[in-house]
Amino acid sequence: MVSTVGLLAEIKDGERRVALDPSAVATVVSHGYRVKVQRGAGVRAGFSDEEYLSVGAEIADEAKDVWACDLVVKVKEPQPSEWQYFRPGLILFAYLHLAAEPELTKALMDSQVEAYAFETLSYPAGLPLLAPMSEVAGRAAAIVGAYYLAAGSGTLLGGAAGVLPGRVVVIGLGVAGTMAARGARGMDAEVVGVDVDLHRLYQAHQEGIVTATVASSDHAISEVVSKADLVIGAALVPGAKAPKIVKKEHIASMRPGSVVVDIAIDQGGCIETARPTSLSHPIFEELGVIHYCVTNIPGQYPRTSSRALSAAVAPRLLDLAQDLNSPKLVGSLNVSGGKVVYEAVAQSLGIS
Ligand SMILES: NC(=O)c1ccc[n+]([C@@H]2O[C@H](COP(=O)([O-])OP(=O)(O)OC[C@H]3O[C@@H](n4cnc5c(N)ncnc54)[C@H](O)[C@@H]3O)[C@@H](O)[C@H]2O)c1
Repeated sequence: MVSTVGLLAEIKDGERRVALDPSAVATVVSHGYRVKVQRGAGVRAGFSDEEYLSVGAEIADEAKDVWACDLVVKVKEPQPSEWQYFRPGLILFAYLHLAAEPELTKALMDSQVEAYAFETLSYPAGLPLLAPMSEVAGRAAAIVGAYYLAAGSGTLLGGAAGVLPGRVVVIGLGVAGTMAARGARGMDAEVVGVDVDLHRLYQAHQEGIVTATVASSDHAISEVVSKADLVIGAALVPGAKAPKIVKKEHIASMRPGSVVVDIAIDQGGCIETARPTSLSHPIFEELGVIHYCVTNIPGQYPRTSSRALSAAVAPRLLDLAQDLNSPKLVGSLNVSGGKVVYEAVAQSLGIS
C-alpha cells in the first residue's frame, strides 16, 4: 500500500525539469498521501520549496529520504549514482527508455524494483505521458537545427529574396515530428515529412504542416536526405529500440555543414551516425555533418516542460498510488518482480 510519495530533484546533465509542480502536489496531498519533495527540486523550473510547503508537502534535505518513500516519481531515468537506492518493492514512475539502457534495466531487475515508464503508458490511446515532452522536443528541434545551420553551412532556413529556402526532412510525423515540421514551416523552410503511416502523411499534407510527403523507404530517404540542409529524426516504435532509418551513406551524401537532430536518440536513435549527447555538450561532427543528439531536449525549457509533464503525470500517479494494476496504467509497467514485462523492451534487449 502506498502512503508516501517522493518527488526527486533531477541530476542528469543540464536537466532542470521537475516531475510535479506545486499544484499537482496539492492534488496528491488532498488525496491523503504524504509527499516528500527533495529540497530545491523545483527551483530550476521556477517552483520554490516554499510553494511546495504551502500546499502541504514536506521538504527532505537528502535524496535518500525521498528514495525511501513507497512511490518515487521523477523525470529522467535514474542515473548510476542513484541505483544504490533501488530496493525490492520500490515503485518507480519516470521516463525510463529501457530499450536503450541495458545496464539500468539490469539494475532494476536485480533490485526487484516495480518500474513504471511514462513513455509506454498507452491509456486511453496513443502515448499520453510521452506526448507533452515530444511536443516540446519537436518544437525545440526546429529551433536548435536552425541555430546550428548558422555555424555549419551558413544556411538561413527561410531563404531570402532571390534565394531558395532551406530544406528540412522530418523522419516520423508523430507528435515530435509534427511539431518539428510546424516549427520549420514557421521559419519558411521547405519541409518534407517521411512516415510509414500513410494516414499521417495524408493528414500532414492536408493540414499544410509540410510542403511534401514521402512514404518511408531506404530509396526515398536516400533521395530526400541528400538534398536536405536539416534532417530531424523522430521515428518511434513504442518501447522498442528506434529503427535505424537514416543510414551512414545517406548522411555522407549531405552538404558539409548540414545538421541532423535525432530526437529519437532516447530510444537509441533513428539515424545511424547518432550517439547520445548532453545539454552541456550537445553536438559533435561526423562526415562533415553537425549532429545534435541530446536525450533530454525538453530539460532546457523547464518551466513549460514541467507544467506540461506534471499535468499529464499527476492523474496517473494517483491511479498508481491507489491500485498498481489500474487499467489506466496499461503499458506502463516495464520491470516487475525482477523481470522485464514489456515485450518490445525485452525483445530490443534480447531477453525475451
Ligand atoms: N530527445 C528527447 O529529449 C526526446 C523528448 C521527447 C520525445 N523523444 C522521442 O521522440 C521520439 C518520437 O516520439 P513521438 O511521441 O513523436 O512518437 P509518435 O509515436 O507520436 O510518432 C512516431 C512516428 O514514427 C513513425 N515511424 C515508425 N517507424 C518509422 C519508419 N521506419 N519510417 C518513418 N517513420 C516511422 C510512426 O508511424 C509515427 O508516426 C521517441 O523516440 C521519443 O522517445 C525524445
